[in-house]
Amino acid sequence: MICNSWKRSFSSSVRAKTSNLLGLYPQPPITFTHGTKSTLFDTANKKYLDFNSGIAVNALGHNDPDVVEAIRDQAGKLIHLSNLYRNEYGDKCATMLVNGLVGTDDFRKKWWGEADNCKVFFCNSGTEANEAAIKFARKMARIRNAESPATGILSFSNAFHGRSMGALSATPNLKYQAPFAPLVPGFSTSPYNDIAALDAVDWNSICGVILEPMQGEGGVFPVKPEFLKALRARCDSVGAMLIFDEIQCGVGRSGKMYMHQWGTVCPDILSLAKPLANGLPMGAVVLRETVAKNIKPGDHGTTFGGGPLATRVACVVLEKVGKPEFLKHVETVSALLFERLHALHAKYPSIIKEVRGKGLLVGLELQGGAIASRFVELCLLHGDVLVISAGSNTVRMAPPLVITEDEIKYACSIFDKVAGVLEAEVKK
Ligand SMILES: Cc1ncc(COP(=O)(O)O)c(C=O)c1O
Repeated sequence: MICNSWKRSFSSSVRAKTSNLLGLYPQPPITFTHGTKSTLFDTANKKYLDFNSGIAVNALGHNDPDVVEAIRDQAGKLIHLSNLYRNEYGDKCATMLVNGLVGTDDFRKKWWGEADNCKVFFCNSGTEANEAAIKFARKMARIRNAESPATGILSFSNAFHGRSMGALSATPNLKYQAPFAPLVPGFSTSPYNDIAALDAVDWNSICGVILEPMQGEGGVFPVKPEFLKALRARCDSVGAMLIFDEIQCGVGRSGKMYMHQWGTVCPDILSLAKPLANGLPMGAVVLRETVAKNIKPGDHGTTFGGGPLATRVACVVLEKVGKPEFLKHVETVSALLFERLHALHAKYPSIIKEVRGKGLLVGLELQGGAIASRFVELCLLHGDVLVISAGSNTVRMAPPLVITEDEIKYACSIFDKVAGVLEAEVKK
């Protein structure tokens, strides 16, 4: 039985009596034991529809047979080696990533440079990927001007880049930053998608600009193509690195392999993580040729990153997600999801403020006294559907990319019911 207000009733003091886990996350009183595709099962074998996929991680869903086979086989061969030696899959995975970015379009080929000379650094999480990207941007500024390098990193309102001190310094959210001040010096913020505001930035002090081409945690906001163009021009004018954080929106989630591939602006550095190894911890930073050639042995490193287990699984993920028919499926089910959500918007205009996103990263912003966390809770109570919240009062949907049309229809029938319940609650 799920308590109506599990968010409140599972405060850290209650959790402390029942669990030795640090109470950083309010959790509903359900213990999951296994899953298949987009379905999760709890200890009583009750089914749930996973419309969240481990926060945009389980792109291939749970228990994908190819992922399971790769893990089983690799676990019996070699799990860890360190980066002091080559393993069978690190190179292969890096090549797959680079080829997927350089692609076949002439302008992309020209931008990224010789595919053999674009390079990948593997790590274990999104935070680590961004930390590396920020360091590489600072190193590049030193190469340009050893005497007086620019050190500024510009990020944007509502951004989320991670929780380590560097990535946190690029995450302008007081709730996350304030308890841990002082942050790393040199970070500043400008409003997301606001071209005019870029005029207020002291560009000569900037060595790197980091942004999500579609913000996730911040409330699901896709970038405007003109904003990316303006940033590209500003970065080029001072030699600053443009870093795209596609940790949440990349690897098929938008309906293209990478969100920025919907447009024509390419980054100097791309950071990836979440879905890369379908749930095994893994991050990656991809550097275009002009950047890669300046990063030298010893500049950065990792013990676990790029190990044979994670990189082998990532090869499976990249192979499957990269297939045109797979991405077509994402587009098809996304169109259905948007159609149904827009219909709900029209039906509950006082409760639903906006539907936004792209592909299978979708935000439903609420209004009129309806609260996103209550929507999340009601989805669980009325239909065993798992969704989460994001930003200010937005319900975030990031189902596995293998979600079916029937599952989308079922989820939307529950959202309909929940919006009706919320409407009645607000009127009371
Ligand atoms: C866009 C973005 N960047 C960075 C991160 C941090 O990734 P991780 O939690 O793997 O460190 C996240 C996590 O939600 C994210 O969504």
